Amino acid sequence: MDVREAVATRYSCRAFLPTPVPLATVREILEGAARAPSGGNLQPWLVHALAGERLKALKATVRARPELLPRGEGAEYDIYPRELKEPYRTRRFQVGELLYRAIGVPREDRPGRIRQYARNFEFFGAPVGLFFSIDRTMGPPQWSDLGGYIQSVMVLARAHGLHTCGQEAWTHWHRTLGEVLALPPDYMLFCGMALGYADEDAPINRWRAPREPLDAFASFQGFPG
Ligand SMILES: Cc1cc2nc3c(=O)[nH]c(=O)nc-3n(C[C@H](O)[C@H](O)[C@H](O)COP(=O)(O)O)c2cc1C
Repeated sequence: MDVREAVATRYSCRAFLPTPVPLATVREILEGAARAPSGGNLQPWLVHALAGERLKALKATVRARPELLPRGEGAEYDIYPRELKEPYRTRRFQVGELLYRAIGVPREDRPGRIRQYARNFEFFGAPVGLFFSIDRTMGPPQWSDLGGYIQSVMVLARAHGLHTCGQEAWTHWHRTLGEVLALPPDYMLFCGMALGYADEDAPINRWRAPREPLDAFASFQGFPG
């Protein structure tokens, strides 16, 4: 698959088929993504990949504590700024509206929204769950590098016909994950990622998040006319 097609066809997939993904494929994606650049070549990423019984057990642990939804054990970092200013606030609101409209859950149906949100902790049915962590001494430049690694995983997944969904929601279970993954205490979990084959017919996969037009965020100077 052409890299342009891989980038263009990536979207946050929130319904997967149970079809397993071979270990060799997961290894190839995670290894290939490590070609991502990082300042000073620090390669500040740590990845855990779970499948089969290990994934099942994790999902069961979270499922057993529905009373903690939606906040779980409490996030370890602010997913968004506490005061989300414009235009970001509106963008976040709009994408939420599109998502819940796609599955027929109205704004006022809070239990319905929480039910959908809880699908995060089932990895939306994906057969593979990935977790990305970073050393706590690292700052914004290295978090940015980790983001580049994560995007590379998403794009390489497309080359294998696979889809992904980034999942910051997992920070709400960082204590449980620290234990399950035996994460060294000097590492912080950033996010999870569902990986698998998309259920293309699922309504939740049949809409796309909009983007701002190019000229709203990029300017071009000095190019020959
Ligand atoms: C690091 C990261 C974490 C995310 N966490 C979640 C999440 O917890 N749950 C979810 O449903 N989507 C999550 N998303 C998906 C975003 O909502 C999505 O990327 C955005 O709305 C744009 O849509 P698109 O990816 O389909 O283009 C996450 C995306 C990224 C990059």
